[in-house]
Amino acid sequence: MAGIRRADRLDRALTKHVALIGFMGAGKTTLGEEVARRLNRLHKDVDRLIESTQKRSIPEIFAEGEATFREVEERVVRGVLAHPRPSVVALGGGAVTTPQIRELLYHHAVTVWLDEDVDTCWARVRESDRPLAKDEAEFRRLFEERRPLYAAAADVVVRDADDVVLAAAGVRVERGVLRRLGELVPGDGKVALVSDPNVGGIHGMDAQLALGARLAQVYELPPGEDAKTIGALERLWQDLRLDRGGTVVALGGGCTTDAAGFAAATYLRGIPWVPVPSSLVAQVDAAIGGKTGIDLPQGKNLVGAFHWPVRTVIDPALLETLPPAQRLEGMAEVVKTGLLAGEPLWELPDDELVRRCAAFKAAICLRDPHDDAERKMLNLGHTFAHALEAAAGYEGLTHGQAVALGLLAALRLSGQDVSQVEEILHPKPVRVDRERAWAAMQRDKKSVGGELRLVLLRDDGPEWDVSVPAADVRRELDALIAG
Ligand SMILES: NC(=O)c1ccc[n+]([C@@H]2O[C@H](COP(=O)([O-])OP(=O)(O)OC[C@H]3O[C@@H](n4cnc5c(N)ncnc54)[C@H](O)[C@@H]3O)[C@@H](O)[C@H]2O)c1
Repeated sequence: MAGIRRADRLDRALTKHVALIGFMGAGKTTLGEEVARRLNRLHKDVDRLIESTQKRSIPEIFAEGEATFREVEERVVRGVLAHPRPSVVALGGGAVTTPQIRELLYHHAVTVWLDEDVDTCWARVRESDRPLAKDEAEFRRLFEERRPLYAAAADVVVRDADDVVLAAAGVRVERGVLRRLGELVPGDGKVALVSDPNVGGIHGMDAQLALGARLAQVYELPPGEDAKTIGALERLWQDLRLDRGGTVVALGGGCTTDAAGFAAATYLRGIPWVPVPSSLVAQVDAAIGGKTGIDLPQGKNLVGAFHWPVRTVIDPALLETLPPAQRLEGMAEVVKTGLLAGEPLWELPDDELVRRCAAFKAAICLRDPHDDAERKMLNLGHTFAHALEAAAGYEGLTHGQAVALGLLAALRLSGQDVSQVEEILHPKPVRVDRERAWAAMQRDKKSVGGELRLVLLRDDGPEWDVSVPAADVRRELDALIAG
């Protein structure tokens, strides 16, 4: 994916339209339909809207002169982008030649350019009745003429639906992008770089150099869950020296991004933040979707806020310094994501694995930002995992190991094959007190009126809030416990 140009604009991910631009024949309509389905938004094809509102075909309107067509087009685009409910809009190839349309896009949309090559475009439209696709030489000339306009109007260049979803969510995934962090943090205010000693020690200097003169302070949270304590948060709040124009940049694993994101959500009643996740857990999960928070002695993640980042900057190269045990932690979430998506995403090379998993979660979170409905599917296996972790007293069993066991139980209850979970994650039964685990399972926040509600994997995809008989849940929980 090539450059996000106006780095200061990809905020308000939840309210902006997504506009697809590109040359005729690039495939904007097909891509737009797919993205609209994934984001559960309306798809609006400007050319089709023009035809239905004018009750004439595009060639007929064009016959009155291109200027007439462009006027009608501008009116339709203005109407579509004025609608408060964000949609996915596919624009005609020449729409960006109208300065007013470029201005509208700038204010109301995340604009993505589907930059298809000219041969593919020509092959697709040569037989069509498109007014500007009659002559091949003229078609190629127009293609070259318009490229600078697309480049100027686009926030991001995309090649597929995952790229568009990530752009819509404000997420940038690209190897080496840490070095361009400065241009990717929206606005021009001061930045507080928050990290932990491990990640700060390895990658902190690159981040500092990239942030340049905007860097106002560097802060280190303790590593691991110690970052997610009230004490650590209080120290960070007191140390932050940003005004409301400032931005918190959180460089680190999920503990750093959760805690620093929560600090940003609450400091001065909320300032912007940019996670730069460095662990696999954080790149495919924790830094996506705007959940921030800290732990209480009574349990994990009990205090928090939804606070969507103004940008998420993911550099898969950071994973090269991640210890293998931490990588395995992340693979548990990757396998979960692949199972939910119905694709073996775990087989992909790192950059693609991260991009696909991040896009899958981003789409779900854009559809259900506040965890009211389908976002719950991301808890596949997690109710069992939380119960086992609680029974282990959060010691001797990592979250990833617990999720791997939880996935086994969820798949068995769903009547699905568990061999992939076993081969990739090697879950081993854990030695914990059975009654304690069962009690924790019943206390889980997803249990309603004493009935256990779980995420199960059906043949046609995940289903959440499934009420499962207590005896079946107990049997599968017991199977995860050794001795
Ligand atoms: N907000 C959410 O939606 C969400 C989702 C999933 C998990 N989480 C949270 O994420 C946390 C777990 O995240 P985590 O596993 O990343 O933990 P973490 O932040 O503790 O990172 C794990 C360890 O790896 C080190 N590390 C990270 N990146 C590194 C790198 N590139 N090179 C070398 N060392 C590196 C860290 O310093 C740390 O010691 C949990 O608190 C969990 O609740 C949140």
